Amino acid sequence: MANHKKIDFEKLFLKGHKSYDTAIGEWWHDQASNGAHRKAYAKVAERVEKQLKSARKPSPKWLVDYACGSGLFLEALASRFPKARIVALDGSRKMLERASLRMAKAGHESGPVEAKDCFEAKGPRIRLVQTSLPNFSLPKGKADAVIFVFPNLTPSPADQDYYDKHGYKKREDVKVCTILARLREMDPEDEVTSVPPKEMYEGLMTDRVISRNLRHLLKRGGSCFKVDYANAHRDELSPLTLQRSLFVEGALAEPVKELYCEAFFRYVSNEFHRSQVILDVYHQTKDPSDKTGGYFTSEFLAV
Ligand SMILES: C[S@@+](CC[C@H](N)C(=O)[O-])C[C@H]1O[C@@H](n2cnc3c(N)ncnc32)[C@H](O)[C@@H]1O
Repeated sequence: MANHKKIDFEKLFLKGHKSYDTAIGEWWHDQASNGAHRKAYAKVAERVEKQLKSARKPSPKWLVDYACGSGLFLEALASRFPKARIVALDGSRKMLERASLRMAKAGHESGPVEAKDCFEAKGPRIRLVQTSLPNFSLPKGKADAVIFVFPNLTPSPADQDYYDKHGYKKREDVKVCTILARLREMDPEDEVTSVPPKEMYEGLMTDRVISRNLRHLLKRGGSCFKVDYANAHRDELSPLTLQRSLFVEGALAEPVKELYCEAFFRYVSNEFHRSQVILDVYHQTKDPSDKTGGYFTSEFLAV
């Protein structure tokens, strides 16, 4: 059992896509295997199936589990969609080894596949792909649905150039993000994050590049499901927090102080669940307010 109190998350996250090959990977595996996570994974897979059915896409051919970790959600997804091919992406060799063992134990055909071949017709039903994320050289526009569960992508400082080349410096985004990072909540109580504007700006821009990568993988009209830690229902978010979220998600259709940025997704729905999974956040922040909450699943359509 990895003791979270002894883990220096900040330092280890600097290892970027290899950070989960360290003690963080052990910690994550313990967390992901607990009852709260297993229940959440089952609920999310059920939600994906329900939403795809109601969008008249009941039999997706290609699904992507973006940052699949040790495969606990992947297992739930593979069971819910026995006919779909699933591309499971992750940067950590150790996480993928665990995912591979898990698939074998559950009787799902899986195997390692090179990133460039991950959507080839020939190959195992479940393709385990070791890659740093985001990755814009992955085949474009192939997936019917992409699911990104408990996002905790850790760019290393060396990745900045790559982010710069893939949208981080886009002029219209820079302008809108600068405003969103500087604006303060009307009610200071709502400004839960005591994050300075520069850090806020970097976080928003980084996460928007990741959303661009999710869009890159999807067909037009494909579905994207993002499962985020949350302290409240999405409709309880303040207007500013909601605008920041939509900016990150690539789904901000309204202007910010008369400035527009590209909306490459359309927001569809959200479902909130109270859950102990929120303790993943508390372990990292040690902030007691992160002991309550849960997660929500947001759905977007690729436009
Ligand atoms: C919090 S875990 C979530 C895993 C999985 N989605 C789940 O819910 O069980 C985050 C995963 O993202 C992967 N990851 C983090 N940063 C990454 C990066 N820059 N590139 C590729 N994978 C990364 C880690 O290896 C880890 O498996």
